[in-house]
Amino acid sequence: MSHLLILPFFFIITISAQSNNSTFPNCPPANCGTVNISYPFWKMDTESTAQFCGYDGFGINCSDTGDQTISQITLGGDSYYVREINYVFGNIFLADYDVSPAAVDHNNCPRVRHNITLGTLPLNFSMYSVNLSFHFECNRCPSFATEIPCLDNNGGKSCVHNMSTGTEETADWEGYSCDQEVVTTVYREYINMNPNFSTEFSRILQGGFGLQWRTMDVDDCEKCEESGGRCGRQNTTDFFCFCSDGTIGWGDCKGTIVTIV
Ligand SMILES: *[C@@H]1O[C@H](CO)[C@@H](O)[C@H](O)[C@H]1NC(C)=O
Ligand SMILES: *[C@@H]1O[C@H](CO)[C@@H](O)[C@H](O)[C@H]1NC(C)=O
Ligand SMILES: *[C@@H]1O[C@H](CO)[C@@H](O)[C@H](O)[C@H]1NC(C)=O
Ligand SMILES: *[C@@H]1O[C@H](CO)[C@@H](O)[C@H](O)[C@H]1NC(C)=O
Ligand SMILES: *[C@@H]1O[C@H](CO)[C@@H](O)[C@H](O)[C@H]1NC(C)=O
Ligand SMILES: *[C@@H]1O[C@H](CO)[C@@H](O)[C@H](O)[C@H]1NC(C)=O
Ligand SMILES: *[C@@H]1O[C@H](CO)[C@@H](O)[C@H](O)[C@H]1NC(C)=O
Ligand SMILES: *[C@@H]1O[C@H](CO)[C@@H](O)[C@H](O)[C@H]1NC(C)=O
Ligand SMILES: *[C@@H]1O[C@H](CO)[C@@H](O)[C@H](O)[C@H]1NC(C)=O
Ligand SMILES: *[C@@H]1O[C@H](CO)[C@@H](O)[C@H](O)[C@H]1NC(C)=O
Repeated sequence: MSHLLILPFFFIITISAQSNNSTFPNCPPANCGTVNISYPFWKMDTESTAQFCGYDGFGINCSDTGDQTISQITLGGDSYYVREINYVFGNIFLADYDVSPAAVDHNNCPRVRHNITLGTLPLNFSMYSVNLSFHFECNRCPSFATEIPCLDNNGGKSCVHNMSTGTEETADWEGYSCDQEVVTTVYREYINMNPNFSTEFSRILQGGFGLQWRTMDVDDCEKCEESGGRCGRQNTTDFFCFCSDGTIGWGDCKGTIVTIV
C-alpha cells in the first residue's frame, strides 16, 4: 500500500545493527498472534513491567480470549486493537477496540465512544488519514452529514461527517442540538471503498488507522539510539540504554556504535 513509503533511514540503521550479530538479550522480540512485537514496542508482562526495553506507552498487552489472541495498546487511556506493525516503515496499524472483531459486543453497528488521544507520545497520524466526526442524539442531521440509522437512539439521530471534504468551515452544528461529538480517524482508502457511510461505516471503522512513530526525544533516548542502543526503563523511572551485547548503558552504548553510511 502506498502509505508505506517513508523512513528508509531507519531501515539502514536496522540492517547495520543486525548485520553485526546484534542480539539485544534485554530486548527479546515476541509474537502475539500474528503481530510481531519488537522494539520500540514491548510486550507487557502480566506479572510486572518493572523493566522494559522500548518506549513509554508502547507496551502491548497480549491476551488470549478463548479462540483469539489479541494485541492491545492503550493510548490516552483508551484501548486499541493492534492489527499490524511494520518495522521497516515505522508504522503501526490500529483499530478502536470497541469496533474491533475482538470487542465483546461486536456487531455491525458499533458506536465510537472516544476521540483518539496521542498526547505526548512520539506518534502522528499517517498520511491518507481522514477524520470523521460523529454527532449523537441530534434532533436531525444537517445536509453536510450522513445519518446512521442503526445508531439512532429513542428518536435521537446519529450523524457522521467527513471532516476532510473542506466543508469544515461551513459545518455548523448549531441548531441540531446534538449531545456528543466523537472524532475518529480512518483511512481514506476504506472510505473510497465503502462510500455509503450510512450502511458501511462499520467496515470503515474496522479498517482502522495508521500511526507513524519517531524517535522518542525524552531522556537520553536519541543519544542511546544513535550509539546503537535501545531505550528502556527499569523500575519504571530510571532510563536505561540497552546495548546489543547485553550490557546496559546509562546514557548510550559507546563502543558498540553502528556505523551509518
Ligand atoms: C552471534 O552470536 C551468537 C551468540 O552470541 C553466536 O552463537 C553466533 O554464532 C553469532 N553469529 C555470528 C554470525 O557471529
Ligand atoms: C519481528 O520483527 C523484527 C524487526 O523487524 C525482526 O528482527 C524479527 O525477526 C521479527 N520476528 C519474527 C518472529 O518475525
Ligand atoms: C491485558 O488485557 C487483559 C484482557 O483485556 C486484562 O485483563 C489485563 O488486565 C490487561 N493487562 C494489562 C497489564 O493491562
Ligand atoms: C509526522 O511527524 C514527522 C516528524 O515529526 C513529520 O515529518 C511528518 O510529516 C508527520 N506526519 C504527518 C502525517 O503529520
Ligand atoms: C485529525 O485530527 C487530529 C486530532 O485533532 C489531527 O492531529 C489530524 O491532523 C487530523 N487529520 C486530518 C487528516 O485532518
Ligand atoms: C472524505 O474526504 C476525503 C478527502 O477529501 C476524500 O478523499 C473522501 O472521498 C471523502 N469521502 C466522502 C465519503 O466524502
Ligand atoms: C472530541 O473532540 C471534539 C473536538 O475535536 C470535541 O468537541 C468533543 O467533545 C470530543 N469528544 C469527546 C467524547 O471527548
Ligand atoms: C446507502 O444505503 C442506504 C440503505 O441501503 C440507501 O437507502 C441509500 O440510498 C444509499 N446511499 C447512497 C448514496 O447510495
Ligand atoms: C528497583 O526497586 C527495587 C525496590 O523498589 C530495588 O530493590 C531495586 O534495587 C531497584 N532496582 C534498580 C536497578 O534500581
Ligand atoms: C560490532 O559490535 C562490536 C561490539 O559488540 C564492535 O566492537 C564492532 O566494531 C562492531 N562491528 C561493526 C562492523 O560495526
